[in-house]
Amino acid sequence: MDSSKYALPVGTTLDRFIMRKQEDFPYATGELSQLLRDIALAAKIVNREINRSGLIDIAGAYGDQNVQGEDQQKLDVIANIRFIRALRNGDEVCTIISEEDDELIQTGNVQGKYVVAIDPLDGSSNIDVNVSIGTIFSIYRRVSPTGRAGTVADCLQRGTHQVAAGYVIYGSSTMLVYTTGNGVNGFTYENSLGEFFLSHPAIQIPQSGNIYSVNEGSSDSFSPGVAAFVKQCKGQQFSARYIGSLVADFHRNLLKGGIYLYPATAKGPQGKLRLMYECNPLAFIVEQAGGRSSNGASRTMEIEPQAPHERCPIFIGSRELVERVEAFLAKEKAAEATELVARA
Ligand code: AHG
Ligand code: MN
Ligand code: MN
Repeated sequence: MDSSKYALPVGTTLDRFIMRKQEDFPYATGELSQLLRDIALAAKIVNREINRSGLIDIAGAYGDQNVQGEDQQKLDVIANIRFIRALRNGDEVCTIISEEDDELIQTGNVQGKYVVAIDPLDGSSNIDVNVSIGTIFSIYRRVSPTGRAGTVADCLQRGTHQVAAGYVIYGSSTMLVYTTGNGVNGFTYENSLGEFFLSHPAIQIPQSGNIYSVNEGSSDSFSPGVAAFVKQCKGQQFSARYIGSLVADFHRNLLKGGIYLYPATAKGPQGKLRLMYECNPLAFIVEQAGGRSSNGASRTMEIEPQAPHERCPIFIGSRELVERVEAFLAKEKAAEATELVARA
């Protein structure tokens, strides 16, 4: 009997997939695999909290205290606690950068070989209105010796040094998408079984697309290059799609082709999004899927980070579209230089 129809890669559970991938590296110790599983477990718990969140205000259904007897908190704080706890309980991570904490978080696992940067809940303005939100994470190998707390140098590495990155999207279905530098795979959560199953193997982003995603409420303060690019998109009858949750906007464009832009604006001269736990992880994923991410002048993952919470402009998505906006920005820069020379 031909059993090849039973050999489809889709349907594999996330745990098994991680295990199989680990077998590809003969000297792997399994710590990174365990770390990914810890993140997946926290994602399941956060998914449950998000699904219940609509009930928080309904008296009796989900009181103002959680099962641990703690006061009910905002979901982004809850998500932060869940992920940090999961990472502390595992032994793999020494230090964490979280959007929800100004300071670096030392887990106490001084033997941990990894550092994690995380946006526990992305798209927080969409929580109360039942719109897709997400979690974004990035994993680095520490550079300082084990046996003591992780350092700022461990945390502030270029995106090119990431060993893994991923996101969870809590949407019409919940998905976990991640890369360890060997392609991008997406897993869909099956609620009743409590498992993530491989549903999107070897994701590739289309080289071009006709979706642009930007907050046009800020268009008055776009630079001439960004404004020219957006004008061109409109001239070519692109679709404008902007959810306001980076993860959701990114995920759609990853699957369908398109570009997400968060440029410098009057409100945010450095853009809004954070390099370590929003831009770099998605840049790693998009590049692994054949796309591109840039701050307008250079590749996102080559930016030398200066601070855990620094922001940077981002243009991310289908390669051809990102290169197009970069060309507009290069022209803008050249024009500025010519003007300076003319004035001198
Ligand atoms: P967070 O909820 O983690 O603070 O991130 C919000 C981000 C991102 O998800 C989204 O794309 C962007 O903010 C939207 O910003 P604007 O409202 O300025 O468009
Ligand atoms: Mn965010
Ligand atoms: Mn957030």
